[in-house]
Amino acid sequence: SKTLKEAYKNYFPIGVAVAPRNLSGPEAELITTQFSSITPENSMKMGPIHPEPDRYAWEQADAIVAFAQKNGLKVRGHNLCWHNQSPKWFFTDNDGKQVTREVLLDRMKEHINAVAGRYKGKVYVWDVVNEAVPDTSESIYRKSKFYEIIGEDYIEKAFEYAHAADPDAKLFYNDYNTESAKKREKIYQLLKKLKAKNVPVHGVGLQGHWSIYEPTAADLEKSITQFASLGLEVQITELDLSVYPKEHERRAKKSTDEGVLTPEMVTKQTAQYKMLFDVFRKHKGTITSVTFWNVSDKSTWLDNFPVPNRKDYPLLFDENYKLKPAFKQVVDF
Ligand code: G3I
Repeated sequence: SKTLKEAYKNYFPIGVAVAPRNLSGPEAELITTQFSSITPENSMKMGPIHPEPDRYAWEQADAIVAFAQKNGLKVRGHNLCWHNQSPKWFFTDNDGKQVTREVLLDRMKEHINAVAGRYKGKVYVWDVVNEAVPDTSESIYRKSKFYEIIGEDYIEKAFEYAHAADPDAKLFYNDYNTESAKKREKIYQLLKKLKAKNVPVHGVGLQGHWSIYEPTAADLEKSITQFASLGLEVQITELDLSVYPKEHERRAKKSTDEGVLTPEMVTKQTAQYKMLFDVFRKHKGTITSVTFWNVSDKSTWLDNFPVPNRKDYPLLFDENYKLKPAFKQVVDF
């Protein structure tokens, strides 16, 4: 049958999140056959790439970028500023005291300049700021260290630094739960403010950590059209469909699921993937990329989230890299 990248060549690049271990063997084969874009799953994040003040660890990110160049794949860079996986040293001075706004802004600038500068011309899109909006509180801003030390303008500063480092890269704000009414509205308000201030933001990433139960087509389309109304591109940046219902699981300490994939789950997942790609194609021109988060069901971050050691089956390729029924629904249209 057709590959993903062939089926979507007139629509958008199809990407996949990769770790260095995926760059050889059957996974590398799958990546280069099926996909047209890759994203480092962890290797470009602040902590992994900048473990100490005067030391960058470029090896993994360099290897991923070199693999992309060798195989003609685009690279979506992920990410330049996130409260998670940021190194502790970033926010403290030598005595362990919290740094001032000026020092933190300087560190952000140096970091963003170094990372976006190194991959200038090789990374076509950057997730500049990741997950800055909280899920439930009334505030638009998550109370992260960046927010607490710098204030709300850390977001626009990050975009400005990224734009200075690579003026040709497209710069994105990236978040999850973008289909819930409350968070959608807060993200919209944030992006609207940034646009009104002429901050160089070009797109919004809908992560797409969804499930076989959610979102509905209507909720997803509402997010796409509302964000696009600001003149922004929309990319689906971290797509996967857990076979478990999300909300009650998230609060549970221990899963009651057995980790077994049932025929009912497969049927629901197939229908959900078909629905989603129907929506993505309908918004051709607005949706400029769809990236899956991990290569196959053999190993996915969801195997340990929201509870450890519960196997999940969220992707289009199974544990033996074979096409799942959803694959056919995605490529035959
Ligand atoms: O590399 C270390 C290893 O040295 C150590 O022994 C081991 C013990 O815990 O941890 C390893 O690091 C893990 C890392 O993944 C690499 O495997 C971290 O613990 C683990 O927390 C980390 O998880 C990543 C997670 O982001 C961190 O929040 C996932 O792989 C990655 O898929 C996930 O990706 C995020 C996106 O960046 C943003 N959106 C949500 C998405 C899913 O959480």
